[in-house]
Amino acid sequence: MRRFSSFSKIIITFLVLFHSTIMGSNELIQLSCKKASQGDPNLSYKFCVSSLEANAKGHSLDLQELVVISLNLTIANATNINSTISNLLKDKAFDNFAKERLRGCSELYADAIPTLQEALCAFQSKDFAKANIEVSSAMDASSTCEDGFKEKKGEVSPLRKENDVFFQLNAISLAFINTLASI
Ligand SMILES: *[C@@H]1O[C@H](CO)[C@@H](O)[C@H](O)[C@H]1NC(C)=O
Ligand SMILES: *[C@@H]1O[C@H](CO)[C@@H](O)[C@H](O)[C@H]1NC(C)=O
Ligand SMILES: *[C@@H]1O[C@H](CO)[C@@H](O)[C@H](O)[C@H]1NC(C)=O
Ligand SMILES: *[C@@H]1O[C@H](CO)[C@@H](O)[C@H](O)[C@H]1NC(C)=O
Repeated sequence: MRRFSSFSKIIITFLVLFHSTIMGSNELIQLSCKKASQGDPNLSYKFCVSSLEANAKGHSLDLQELVVISLNLTIANATNINSTISNLLKDKAFDNFAKERLRGCSELYADAIPTLQEALCAFQSKDFAKANIEVSSAMDASSTCEDGFKEKKGEVSPLRKENDVFFQLNAISLAFINTLASI
């Protein structure tokens, strides 16, 4: 888990405890996303803010609720990606190599759904360590899927965007869970 300076711990603790009286949910999202993207070069600040703001819908939220939203969003995304893959598998343009990889990715994403549901349960019972492990494990679906296509020279992954989005959504959940665990 990442470590934070004591100063940022104080700031985050303050935000978690008192945000509802001092700031709206968009400010909490912006601050939390700023911190998360600074800690992870692969996480885009813009992506983080736009994904969460679109789903927070202006409610007054705390960091715990943001994690639930983020995990929910990631579960929905894995479900979408699983159907995207089913459609790609019907496409005759893919050769056997690509189809085999697509089937592997479908299994990875189908498995990621219950893993993320377990992460949500663990998180809700405040078992942050278990939630961290489950989210990290779900997150591996994207890199394992992407790496499969790299086994053949010149092969272009048809799931590059999906894998990237899924990776980033999990990176958001992980960063926020680790922040809560460090308080
Ligand atoms: C960021 O992405 C690069 C390239 O895909 C990868 O090598 C690296 O491990 C990633 N870093 C993190 C913190 O996930
Ligand atoms: C999470 O998703 C479930 C079902 O998709 C929904 O009922 C619930 O309201 C969502 N919770 C949040 C915090 O987004
Ligand atoms: C979720 O996944 C779908 C399918 O890959 C993608 O088009 C969409 O942008 C993703 N959205 C979010 C917010 O995760
Ligand atoms: C994933 O897609 C497969 C094939 O279309 C489908 O049979 C399966 O039910 C889906 N799994 C989930 C968890 O949505």
